[in-house]
Amino acid sequence: MQRQRVNVTVTGAGGNIGYALMFRIASGQLLGPNVPVALRLLEIPTGLQAAEGSAFELQDSAFPLLRDVRVTDDPAQAFEGSNIAILVGSRPRGPGQQRADLLEGNARIFGPQGAAINAGAADDIRVVVVGNPANTNTLVTASHAPDVPADRFTALTRLDHNRAVAQLAAHLSVPVTSVRGVAIWGNHSVKQYPDVTHATVDGRPVRELVDEAWLVNEFIPRVANRGAEIIAVRGASSMGSAASATVDHVYDWVNGTGDDWTSAGVISDGSYGVTAGLVSSYPVRSLGGNWSIEPGLEIDAFSRARIDASVADLQSERDTVSALGLLGPR
Ligand code: NAD
Ligand code: LMR
Repeated sequence: MQRQRVNVTVTGAGGNIGYALMFRIASGQLLGPNVPVALRLLEIPTGLQAAEGSAFELQDSAFPLLRDVRVTDDPAQAFEGSNIAILVGSRPRGPGQQRADLLEGNARIFGPQGAAINAGAADDIRVVVVGNPANTNTLVTASHAPDVPADRFTALTRLDHNRAVAQLAAHLSVPVTSVRGVAIWGNHSVKQYPDVTHATVDGRPVRELVDEAWLVNEFIPRVANRGAEIIAVRGASSMGSAASATVDHVYDWVNGTGDDWTSAGVISDGSYGVTAGLVSSYPVRSLGGNWSIEPGLEIDAFSRARIDASVADLQSERDTVSALGLLGPR
């Protein structure tokens, strides 16, 4: 039986990730095979033509679930009645840059979008920020939407999670489906902490299968620097894998995570010593359409130091946007 139509807003729809994302959404992979979708594509004026061309292609694909596509450069129109907002629109970094270098240019995009979400989105709005630096852009967005519950704002760290799972699987020569219990903590930056302390492979603890030198010298830096590695090899930042991780994030948020946790950037409630209010990645599960932080995990000294370093990174980004006057009333 078909369910009620869901309005999905994608910002930066004329860009690379936007293009990779919209066909996955329209085909039903974002929400499920029985959920009709309407797309609202937001761009800035220079990106409108690309987004309109993509809208033509969506029409030509005759997706059975796609009810409507509208392209606009007006945030109020793009977020009016929106149920799911995927905030991609912003500049990607180039070779040699850190994601935090994008903060000054990109963060100011997210205040007006948060305000437009606050003013016009549907009561059940769920937001995922992809544009970098994703955690702090999420903080800016949420701060301008004080009437929307804070737990509706998330940052994409599922790409880091998927990368960690894939690196472990490759190292141990197992399928990715054998790997469980991986977690990404902190910022979607080089200071992120990909944690295998609680991970298992086919039921066996990963810490018994890999040595600490591999974790410290190869696994953690490989996952944390994978975005830069893609930029160096591909000549542009990740596109298909970023879109795919975004689909995974929203699908699991709406439909539930099943019997394993995943990772997402959520507004911290102070759990695990992360300063409350920062948008930090945690191991999370979704049930009934709500993320909850996995409780009760033991944090050893190895993990503590890395989580603390990532939290310090997030605090420094928050200080930057605060000094720029970009935080809103929440
Ligand atoms: P892109 O340059 O191909 O596309 C970005 C699009 O955003 C452009 O079409 C641009 O016109 C549009 N845009 C800019 N300002 C906008 C605004 N105010 N409103 C609406 N649209 C706007 O870049 P991309 O490769 O699609 O990457 C987009 C962002 O996603 C970058 O910041 C990148 O670093 C980030 N990213 C994040 C992750 C993650 O895991 N969180 C992964 C990959 C990329
Ligand atoms: C990624 O992780 O691939 C993205 O955040 C893009 C980047 O700048 O690394």
